[in-house]
Amino acid sequence: MFAKRTNWNLAPNRLSEALAVYRAAGKPLLDLTVSNPTECGFEYDGSAILNALSNPAALSYEPNPKGLESARRAVAGYYAERKDEVSIEDIFLTTSTSEAYSYVFRTLCDPGDELLIPSPSYPLFDFLADIQDVKLVRYPLLYDHGWQIDFHALEQAMTPRTRGVIVVHPNNPTGHFAKQAEIAKLNSICSAREMAIIADEVFLDFALDGSRAASFAANRGAPTFTLSGLSKISGLPQMKAAWLIAGGPQQWKSEAVARLEVIADTYLSVNAPVQLAMPNFLEQRHAFHKQVISRAQRNLAELDRQLAEQKACARLTVEGGWCVVLRVPATHSDEDLAIELLTTQGVSVHPAHFYEFTSDGYLVVSLITPERIFAEGTTRLLSSM
Ligand SMILES: Cc1ncc(COP(=O)(O)O)c(C=O)c1O
Repeated sequence: MFAKRTNWNLAPNRLSEALAVYRAAGKPLLDLTVSNPTECGFEYDGSAILNALSNPAALSYEPNPKGLESARRAVAGYYAERKDEVSIEDIFLTTSTSEAYSYVFRTLCDPGDELLIPSPSYPLFDFLADIQDVKLVRYPLLYDHGWQIDFHALEQAMTPRTRGVIVVHPNNPTGHFAKQAEIAKLNSICSAREMAIIADEVFLDFALDGSRAASFAANRGAPTFTLSGLSKISGLPQMKAAWLIAGGPQQWKSEAVARLEVIADTYLSVNAPVQLAMPNFLEQRHAFHKQVISRAQRNLAELDRQLAEQKACARLTVEGGWCVVLRVPATHSDEDLAIELLTTQGVSVHPAHFYEFTSDGYLVVSLITPERIFAEGTTRLLSSM
């Protein structure tokens, strides 16, 4: 009686099972997979955050498909600070980046239409695509002293049903940004084939060298949807506040905005207290960003210090985001290795095949792990190789 799209394999994988058994035994865990910023020991201005939620204006209902103007102004202000001009008329508030993806998929794709997604990348896309009846086709990223798009493979992967290319900027977990030459090539491919660029910029602010990467929000060279939100930028995933920006050639953009407006108006999903708090929540990003960058830099320096003392393992180049990829001896599958690290060392890591790495010998660890746990966890990991 259920839709075929929900025929997912819901059985836990072997690593999740091993983790559940380990936790149930009450053993201490050095968790190097943490991604929830509210549980990583960062300091938040609790009273400012809670006060922002008690604005009396929230007592009246002002439905607006794009979201309250004050909130969209705050989002436009975030881009203005980055020197990118974004009109508040092109911004749609959503409850999450995932919801923003679903609006985009629904705007661009009929059932069975295709979107290109990077590989490796974040595993969320498969479910989002299944739910929206979209077919994902992977385009490989190549690693050679840094990651880059394999444009030959990307063009080979395109079919008459391809509606767009997803770019995660910087990508999770590879931590690389799209480069200017790549953006120019994506623009030329997408504008020639009437495809859209869908840029996921949830980690845009987290360049590990402290530089400021360019956003796709002001891209004019091809139809572009830019997605971001507060879950990473301000470390507030529980507030469920994100956005989607339509950009690109003017006529295309006007049509896209009109269609998105109908989708957004159908749900009106973002609640008033959160919209009213958006200017404040965005303001919180400065203090959060400082803490994340300093922790990620210190963890990376500690990792490099440890890696320099041994020869078995190395790390891949990382430019931004919250993870780093380790190259380890491919003596077992990544999943077996992660289970062994858990059961013998009490260390939890992600096998890279969770992120569609095609060969064994890679593990992913979180750079926002509290520093003492990171140092102890990576020491045990490297000493067991
Ligand atoms: C690349 C990427 N995009 C989107 C998301 C989801 O963001 P949100 O919490 O806004 O749905 C994540 C979450 O980790 C992510 O890594």
